[in-house]
Amino acid sequence: MKICVLPGDGIGPEIVSQAMRVLEVLKQDGLKMEFEYGLLGGGAVDETGTPYPEATQRLAKEADAILLGAVGGPKWDTLPREQRPERGLLGIRKQLGVFANLRPAILYPELANASTLKPEVVSGLDIIIIRELVGDIYFGEPRGIEERGGERVGYNTMVYSESEIRRIAKVAFETARRRNRKVCSVDKMNVLESTQLWRDVVTEVHKDYQDVELSHMLVDNAAMQLVRNPKQFDVMVTGNMFGDILSDEASMLTGSIGMLPSASLDENNKGLFEPCHGSAPDIAGKNMANPLATILSAAMMLRYSFGQEEQALRIENAVKKVLAQGYRTGDIYEPGTNKVSTTEMGDAVLAALQ
Ligand code: NAD
Ligand code: IPM
Ligand code: MN
Repeated sequence: MKICVLPGDGIGPEIVSQAMRVLEVLKQDGLKMEFEYGLLGGGAVDETGTPYPEATQRLAKEADAILLGAVGGPKWDTLPREQRPERGLLGIRKQLGVFANLRPAILYPELANASTLKPEVVSGLDIIIIRELVGDIYFGEPRGIEERGGERVGYNTMVYSESEIRRIAKVAFETARRRNRKVCSVDKMNVLESTQLWRDVVTEVHKDYQDVELSHMLVDNAAMQLVRNPKQFDVMVTGNMFGDILSDEASMLTGSIGMLPSASLDENNKGLFEPCHGSAPDIAGKNMANPLATILSAAMMLRYSFGQEEQALRIENAVKKVLAQGYRTGDIYEPGTNKVSTTEMGDAVLAALQ
Protein backbone atom coordinates (compact mmCIF):
# COMPACT_ATOMS: atom_id res chain seq x y z
CA MET A 1 0.00 0.00 0.00
CA LYS A 2 1.54 3.24 -1.18
CA ILE A 3 0.57 6.21 0.92
CA CYS A 4 1.29 9.80 -0.02
CA VAL A 5 1.64 11.97 3.11
CA LEU A 6 0.96 15.70 2.81
CA PRO A 7 1.39 17.40 6.22
CA GLY A 8 0.56 20.90 4.93
CA ASP A 9 0.60 24.09 7.00
CA GLY A 10 -0.06 25.36 10.52
CA ILE A 11 -0.90 22.48 12.86
CA GLY A 12 -0.84 20.11 9.83
CA PRO A 13 2.69 18.76 10.43
CA GLU A 14 2.07 18.44 14.20
CA ILE A 15 -1.06 16.32 13.86
CA VAL A 16 0.10 14.29 10.86
CA SER A 17 3.26 13.26 12.69
CA GLN A 18 1.11 11.76 15.47
CA ALA A 19 -0.97 9.82 12.92
CA MET A 20 2.28 8.63 11.32
CA ARG A 21 3.53 7.28 14.65
CA VAL A 22 0.34 5.21 14.81
CA LEU A 23 0.76 3.92 11.25
CA GLU A 24 4.44 3.09 11.93
CA VAL A 25 3.33 0.82 14.79
CA LEU A 26 0.94 -1.04 12.49
CA LYS A 27 3.71 -1.31 9.91
CA GLN A 28 6.08 -2.80 12.47
CA ASP A 29 3.33 -5.28 13.31
CA GLY A 30 3.29 -6.48 9.71
CA LEU A 31 0.98 -4.18 7.73
CA LYS A 32 2.66 -3.47 4.40
CA MET A 33 2.81 0.28 3.86
CA GLU A 34 5.19 2.64 2.10
CA PHE A 35 5.12 6.36 2.79
CA GLU A 36 6.17 9.21 0.54
CA TYR A 37 6.04 12.82 1.67
CA GLY A 38 5.01 15.76 -0.49
CA LEU A 39 4.34 19.49 -0.38
CA LEU A 40 0.84 20.95 -0.56
CA GLY A 41 -0.49 24.37 0.36
CA GLY A 42 1.41 27.36 1.71
CA GLY A 43 4.66 25.46 2.23
CA ALA A 44 4.50 24.38 -1.40
CA VAL A 45 3.92 27.98 -2.50
CA ASP A 46 6.97 29.10 -0.52
CA GLU A 47 9.22 26.42 -2.01
CA THR A 48 7.92 26.10 -5.56
CA GLY A 49 5.63 29.07 -6.23
CA THR A 50 2.53 26.91 -6.59
CA PRO A 51 0.23 25.27 -4.00
CA TYR A 52 0.00 21.87 -5.77
CA PRO A 53 3.37 21.29 -7.49
CA GLU A 54 3.93 18.77 -10.28
CA ALA A 55 5.99 16.50 -8.02
CA THR A 56 3.09 16.26 -5.55
CA GLN A 57 0.64 15.61 -8.38
CA ARG A 58 2.77 12.67 -9.46
CA LEU A 59 3.01 11.28 -5.93
CA ALA A 60 -0.75 11.64 -5.42
CA LYS A 61 -1.61 9.89 -8.69
CA GLU A 62 0.76 7.00 -8.03
CA ALA A 63 -0.33 6.48 -4.42
CA ASP A 64 -3.14 4.17 -3.32
CA ALA A 65 -4.24 6.71 -0.71
CA ILE A 66 -3.32 10.15 0.55
CA LEU A 67 -3.11 11.31 4.16
CA LEU A 68 -3.39 15.07 4.52
CA GLY A 69 -3.08 17.48 7.45
CA ALA A 70 -4.44 20.92 6.62
CA VAL A 71 -3.43 23.88 4.48
CA GLY A 72 -3.61 27.66 4.64
CA GLY A 73 -2.81 30.51 6.97
CA PRO A 74 -2.61 34.30 7.23
CA LYS A 75 0.81 34.37 5.56
CA TRP A 76 -0.76 33.41 2.21
CA ASP A 77 -4.14 35.15 2.54
CA THR A 78 -3.22 38.09 0.30
CA LEU A 79 -1.84 36.04 -2.61
CA PRO A 80 -3.72 35.93 -5.90
CA ARG A 81 -6.41 33.24 -5.80
CA GLU A 82 -4.53 30.72 -8.02
CA GLN A 83 -1.63 30.75 -5.59
CA ARG A 84 -3.63 30.35 -2.41
CA PRO A 85 -3.01 27.16 -0.40
CA GLU A 86 -6.74 26.35 -0.54
CA ARG A 87 -6.49 26.21 -4.34
CA GLY A 88 -4.00 23.37 -3.91
CA LEU A 89 -6.46 21.46 -1.76
CA LEU A 90 -9.31 21.99 -4.22
CA GLY A 91 -6.93 21.04 -7.04
CA ILE A 92 -5.95 17.69 -5.55
CA ARG A 93 -9.58 16.82 -4.73
CA LYS A 94 -10.69 17.67 -8.27
CA GLN A 95 -7.77 15.97 -9.99
CA LEU A 96 -8.26 12.74 -8.05
CA GLY A 97 -12.03 12.92 -8.52
CA VAL A 98 -12.69 12.19 -4.85
CA PHE A 99 -16.33 13.30 -5.03
CA ALA A 100 -17.69 11.56 -1.93
CA ASN A 101 -16.62 13.21 1.31
CA LEU A 102 -17.69 11.17 4.34
CA ARG A 103 -17.70 13.11 7.60
CA PRO A 104 -18.84 10.95 10.52
CA ALA A 105 -19.88 12.82 13.67
CA ILE A 106 -19.71 10.36 16.53
CA LEU A 107 -19.87 11.35 20.18
CA TYR A 108 -17.56 9.25 22.31
CA PRO A 109 -19.45 8.82 25.63
CA GLU A 110 -16.52 10.25 27.62
CA LEU A 111 -16.90 13.55 25.75
CA ALA A 112 -20.59 14.08 26.52
CA ASN A 113 -19.66 17.07 28.68
CA ALA A 114 -17.11 18.47 26.21
CA SER A 115 -19.87 19.46 23.80
CA THR A 116 -21.39 22.89 24.31
CA LEU A 117 -24.79 21.21 23.96
CA LYS A 118 -26.60 19.43 26.79
CA PRO A 119 -25.36 15.83 27.25
CA GLU A 120 -28.88 14.42 26.74
CA VAL A 121 -29.08 16.12 23.33
CA VAL A 122 -25.83 14.59 22.06
CA SER A 123 -25.29 11.36 24.00
CA GLY A 124 -25.18 8.35 21.71
CA LEU A 125 -24.85 10.54 18.62
CA ASP A 126 -23.68 8.67 15.51
CA ILE A 127 -24.46 10.45 12.25
CA ILE A 128 -22.60 10.83 8.98
CA ILE A 129 -22.59 13.81 6.64
CA ILE A 130 -21.94 12.90 3.02
CA ARG A 131 -20.72 16.00 1.25
CA GLU A 132 -20.31 16.20 -2.53
CA LEU A 133 -16.74 17.45 -2.89
CA VAL A 134 -15.81 18.27 -6.48
CA GLY A 135 -18.75 20.31 -7.79
CA ASP A 136 -21.14 23.09 -6.75
CA ILE A 137 -20.32 26.77 -6.34
CA TYR A 138 -16.75 25.81 -5.40
CA PHE A 139 -15.96 24.95 -9.01
CA GLY A 140 -18.78 26.50 -11.08
CA GLU A 141 -17.95 28.82 -13.98
CA PRO A 142 -18.16 31.71 -14.62
CA ARG A 143 -16.63 33.19 -11.51
CA GLY A 144 -14.74 36.36 -10.81
CA ILE A 145 -14.62 39.95 -9.69
CA GLU A 146 -15.02 42.58 -12.38
CA GLU A 147 -15.98 46.14 -13.10
CA ARG A 148 -19.64 46.59 -14.07
CA GLY A 149 -21.34 49.95 -14.42
CA GLY A 150 -18.70 51.82 -12.47
CA GLU A 151 -18.43 49.45 -9.53
CA ARG A 152 -16.89 46.06 -8.75
CA VAL A 153 -19.08 42.98 -8.85
CA GLY A 154 -18.13 39.55 -7.46
CA TYR A 155 -19.87 36.43 -8.74
CA ASN A 156 -19.82 32.62 -8.61
CA THR A 157 -21.92 29.94 -10.22
CA MET A 158 -23.77 27.27 -8.28
CA VAL A 159 -24.13 24.33 -10.63
CA TYR A 160 -24.79 20.59 -10.42
CA SER A 161 -25.28 18.11 -13.23
CA GLU A 162 -27.57 15.12 -13.02
CA SER A 163 -24.68 12.66 -13.12
CA GLU A 164 -22.86 14.43 -10.28
CA ILE A 165 -25.97 14.30 -8.10
CA ARG A 166 -26.77 10.70 -9.00
CA ARG A 167 -23.37 9.31 -7.99
CA ILE A 168 -23.31 11.05 -4.59
CA ALA A 169 -26.95 10.04 -3.93
CA LYS A 170 -25.97 6.41 -4.55
CA VAL A 171 -23.13 6.68 -2.03
CA ALA A 172 -25.61 8.06 0.52
CA PHE A 173 -28.16 5.27 0.00
CA GLU A 174 -25.48 2.56 0.01
CA THR A 175 -24.04 4.00 3.22
CA ALA A 176 -27.49 4.11 4.81
CA ARG A 177 -27.99 0.40 3.99
CA ARG A 178 -25.01 -0.38 6.22
CA ARG A 179 -26.45 1.82 9.00
CA ASN A 180 -29.98 2.76 10.09
CA ARG A 181 -31.43 3.07 6.58
CA LYS A 182 -32.34 6.74 6.80
CA VAL A 183 -31.15 9.46 4.40
CA CYS A 184 -31.91 13.15 4.81
CA SER A 185 -31.05 15.14 1.69
CA VAL A 186 -30.35 18.81 2.35
CA ASP A 187 -30.96 21.52 -0.26
CA LYS A 188 -32.35 25.02 -0.82
CA MET A 189 -34.86 24.12 -3.51
CA ASN A 190 -37.26 26.87 -2.43
CA VAL A 191 -34.82 29.40 -3.91
CA LEU A 192 -32.09 27.74 -6.01
CA GLU A 193 -32.60 25.83 -9.28
CA SER A 194 -29.41 23.79 -8.96
CA THR A 195 -30.75 22.39 -5.70
CA GLN A 196 -34.23 21.82 -7.20
CA LEU A 197 -32.47 19.46 -9.61
CA TRP A 198 -30.60 18.01 -6.62
CA ARG A 199 -33.91 17.14 -4.92
CA ASP A 200 -35.43 15.74 -8.12
CA VAL A 201 -32.45 13.49 -8.89
CA VAL A 202 -32.05 12.24 -5.30
CA THR A 203 -35.77 11.33 -5.38
CA GLU A 204 -35.26 9.43 -8.67
CA VAL A 205 -32.23 7.50 -7.37
CA HIS A 206 -34.26 6.58 -4.28
CA LYS A 207 -36.53 4.43 -6.47
CA ASP A 208 -33.73 1.83 -6.44
CA TYR A 209 -33.41 2.03 -2.66
CA GLN A 210 -36.96 1.59 -1.37
CA ASP A 211 -35.61 -0.15 1.75
CA VAL A 212 -34.06 3.20 2.78
CA GLU A 213 -36.21 6.01 4.16
CA LEU A 214 -35.62 9.32 2.36
CA SER A 215 -36.50 12.76 3.67
CA HIS A 216 -35.65 16.22 2.34
CA MET A 217 -34.81 19.28 4.38
CA LEU A 218 -34.01 22.88 3.53
CA VAL A 219 -30.53 23.81 4.63
CA ASP A 220 -31.51 26.58 7.04
CA ASN A 221 -33.86 24.21 8.88
CA ALA A 222 -31.17 21.47 8.79
CA ALA A 223 -28.70 23.80 10.51
CA MET A 224 -31.28 24.42 13.24
CA GLN A 225 -32.34 20.75 13.57
CA LEU A 226 -28.68 19.69 13.97
CA VAL A 227 -28.47 21.54 17.27
CA ARG A 228 -32.12 21.05 18.30
CA ASN A 229 -32.22 17.27 17.93
CA PRO A 230 -29.22 15.85 16.06
CA LYS A 231 -30.12 12.23 16.81
CA GLN A 232 -33.07 12.42 14.38
CA PHE A 233 -30.46 12.01 11.59
CA ASP A 234 -28.61 8.96 10.32
CA VAL A 235 -27.10 9.86 6.92
CA MET A 236 -27.24 13.46 5.67
CA VAL A 237 -26.33 14.07 2.02
CA THR A 238 -25.74 17.50 0.58
CA GLY A 239 -23.72 19.63 -1.82
CA ASN A 240 -20.21 20.94 -1.44
CA MET A 241 -20.89 24.27 0.27
CA PHE A 242 -23.78 23.26 2.52
CA GLY A 243 -21.78 20.17 3.53
CA ASP A 244 -18.76 22.27 4.44
CA ILE A 245 -20.82 24.43 6.77
CA LEU A 246 -23.03 21.70 8.30
CA SER A 247 -20.05 19.45 9.06
CA ASP A 248 -18.26 22.15 11.06
CA GLU A 249 -21.52 22.67 12.93
CA ALA A 250 -21.85 18.91 13.52
CA SER A 251 -18.31 18.73 14.87
CA MET A 252 -19.35 20.63 17.99
CA LEU A 253 -21.89 17.90 18.73
CA THR A 254 -18.92 15.58 19.22
CA GLY A 255 -17.08 17.93 21.56
CA SER A 256 -14.64 19.60 19.18
CA ILE A 257 -13.71 20.06 15.57
CA GLY A 258 -10.49 18.34 16.61
CA MET A 259 -12.44 15.06 16.78
CA LEU A 260 -13.93 14.96 13.25
CA PRO A 261 -12.13 12.83 10.62
CA SER A 262 -13.02 12.51 6.96
CA ALA A 263 -12.62 10.27 3.94
CA SER A 264 -12.93 11.57 0.38
CA LEU A 265 -13.42 8.73 -2.09
CA ASP A 266 -13.57 8.24 -5.84
CA GLU A 267 -15.57 5.49 -7.60
CA ASN A 268 -12.88 2.90 -6.78
CA ASN A 269 -12.41 3.87 -3.13
CA LYS A 270 -9.09 5.50 -3.81
CA GLY A 271 -9.11 8.23 -1.25
CA LEU A 272 -7.83 11.33 0.38
CA PHE A 273 -8.05 11.29 4.17
CA GLU A 274 -7.94 14.43 6.26
CA PRO A 275 -9.42 15.92 9.42
CA CYS A 276 -12.38 18.27 8.81
CA HIS A 277 -10.67 21.17 10.55
CA GLY A 278 -8.16 23.63 9.12
CA SER A 279 -4.60 24.63 9.88
CA ALA A 280 -5.61 26.42 13.12
CA PRO A 281 -3.07 29.27 12.85
CA ASP A 282 -4.05 30.48 16.34
CA ILE A 283 -2.54 27.39 17.99
CA ALA A 284 0.04 26.30 15.38
CA GLY A 285 3.52 25.51 16.64
CA LYS A 286 2.36 25.30 20.25
CA ASN A 287 2.00 21.51 20.57
CA MET A 288 -1.63 22.08 21.61
CA ALA A 289 -3.68 20.76 18.70
CA ASN A 290 -5.86 17.70 19.03
CA PRO A 291 -4.38 14.99 16.77
CA LEU A 292 -7.33 12.59 17.15
CA ALA A 293 -9.24 13.72 14.03
CA THR A 294 -6.14 12.97 11.95
CA ILE A 295 -5.47 9.66 13.71
CA LEU A 296 -9.12 8.71 13.09
CA SER A 297 -8.72 9.77 9.43
CA ALA A 298 -5.83 7.28 9.18
CA ALA A 299 -8.23 4.63 10.52
CA MET A 300 -10.74 5.59 7.81
CA MET A 301 -7.94 5.20 5.24
CA LEU A 302 -7.27 1.63 6.38
CA ARG A 303 -11.00 0.84 6.30
CA TYR A 304 -12.06 2.45 3.02
CA SER A 305 -9.01 2.34 0.78
CA PHE A 306 -7.38 -0.87 2.03
CA GLY A 307 -10.24 -2.94 3.44
CA GLN A 308 -8.32 -3.35 6.72
CA GLU A 309 -11.33 -3.22 9.01
CA GLU A 310 -9.51 -4.87 11.91
CA GLN A 311 -6.63 -2.41 11.80
CA ALA A 312 -9.07 0.50 11.58
CA LEU A 313 -10.86 -0.78 14.66
CA ARG A 314 -7.57 -1.21 16.45
CA ILE A 315 -6.89 2.52 16.02
CA GLU A 316 -10.44 3.54 16.91
CA ASN A 317 -10.37 1.40 20.04
CA ALA A 318 -7.06 2.98 21.07
CA VAL A 319 -8.70 6.41 20.73
CA LYS A 320 -11.65 5.28 22.86
CA LYS A 321 -9.24 3.96 25.44
CA VAL A 322 -7.24 7.20 25.80
CA LEU A 323 -10.47 9.15 26.20
CA ALA A 324 -11.64 6.69 28.86
CA GLN A 325 -8.26 7.11 30.58
CA GLY A 326 -8.94 10.84 30.79
CA TYR A 327 -6.39 12.21 28.31
CA ARG A 328 -7.61 15.51 26.82
CA THR A 329 -6.07 18.17 24.61
CA GLY A 330 -7.20 21.73 25.41
CA ASP A 331 -10.14 21.74 23.00
CA ILE A 332 -11.86 18.84 24.82
CA TYR A 333 -10.54 19.51 28.32
CA GLU A 334 -12.84 19.70 31.31
CA PRO A 335 -11.92 19.87 35.01
CA GLY A 336 -11.08 16.47 36.45
CA THR A 337 -9.44 15.20 33.26
CA ASN A 338 -5.77 15.11 32.32
CA LYS A 339 -4.77 17.98 30.02
CA VAL A 340 -2.09 16.89 27.55
CA SER A 341 -0.17 18.25 24.58
CA THR A 342 -0.38 17.02 20.99
CA THR A 343 2.65 14.77 21.41
CA GLU A 344 1.49 13.47 24.79
CA MET A 345 -1.85 12.54 23.22
CA GLY A 346 0.16 10.69 20.56
CA ASP A 347 2.13 8.91 23.32
CA ALA A 348 -1.13 7.85 24.98
CA VAL A 349 -2.60 6.49 21.73
CA LEU A 350 0.61 4.56 21.06
CA ALA A 351 0.52 3.04 24.54
CA ALA A 352 -3.15 2.12 24.06
CA LEU A 353 -2.35 0.40 20.74
CA GLN A 354 0.11 -1.99 22.34
P1 NAD B 1 -9.73 26.04 11.58
O1 NAD B 1 -10.48 24.76 11.52
O2 NAD B 1 -8.31 25.99 11.19
O3 NAD B 1 -9.81 26.61 13.09
C1 NAD B 1 -11.04 26.98 13.70
C2 NAD B 1 -10.87 26.93 15.23
O4 NAD B 1 -10.81 25.56 15.63
C3 NAD B 1 -9.61 27.59 15.72
O5 NAD B 1 -9.86 28.22 16.96
C4 NAD B 1 -8.65 26.42 15.93
O6 NAD B 1 -7.67 26.62 16.91
C5 NAD B 1 -9.60 25.30 16.32
N1 NAD B 1 -9.08 23.99 15.89
C6 NAD B 1 -9.06 23.51 14.63
N2 NAD B 1 -8.47 22.30 14.60
C7 NAD B 1 -8.12 22.00 15.88
C8 NAD B 1 -7.49 20.88 16.50
N3 NAD B 1 -7.07 19.82 15.79
N4 NAD B 1 -7.29 20.93 17.83
C9 NAD B 1 -7.71 21.98 18.55
N5 NAD B 1 -8.32 23.06 18.03
C10 NAD B 1 -8.52 23.08 16.70
O7 NAD B 1 -10.55 27.09 10.71
P2 NAD B 1 -10.16 28.61 10.30
O8 NAD B 1 -9.50 29.30 11.43
O9 NAD B 1 -11.38 29.17 9.71
O10 NAD B 1 -9.12 28.43 9.11
C11 NAD B 1 -7.71 28.54 9.27
C12 NAD B 1 -7.02 28.22 7.96
O11 NAD B 1 -7.23 26.84 7.64
C13 NAD B 1 -7.56 28.99 6.76
O12 NAD B 1 -6.46 29.34 5.95
C14 NAD B 1 -8.46 28.02 6.05
O13 NAD B 1 -8.57 28.25 4.68
C15 NAD B 1 -7.75 26.72 6.32
N6 NAD B 1 -8.61 25.52 6.30
C16 NAD B 1 -8.06 24.40 5.73
C17 NAD B 1 -8.75 23.21 5.74
C18 NAD B 1 -8.12 22.01 5.14
O14 NAD B 1 -6.95 22.02 4.84
N7 NAD B 1 -8.85 20.93 4.96
C19 NAD B 1 -10.01 23.15 6.36
C20 NAD B 1 -10.54 24.31 6.94
C21 NAD B 1 -9.82 25.50 6.91
C1 IPM C 1 -12.71 21.86 4.40
C2 IPM C 1 -12.16 23.26 4.17
C3 IPM C 1 -11.95 23.52 2.69
C4 IPM C 1 -13.33 23.46 2.02
C5 IPM C 1 -11.25 24.84 2.34
C6 IPM C 1 -9.96 25.02 3.07
C7 IPM C 1 -11.01 24.93 0.86
O1 IPM C 1 -12.98 24.21 4.78
O2 IPM C 1 -12.06 20.89 3.97
O3 IPM C 1 -13.75 21.73 5.03
O4 IPM C 1 -14.08 24.44 2.05
O5 IPM C 1 -13.64 22.41 1.46
MN1 MN D 1 -14.52 23.36 6.05
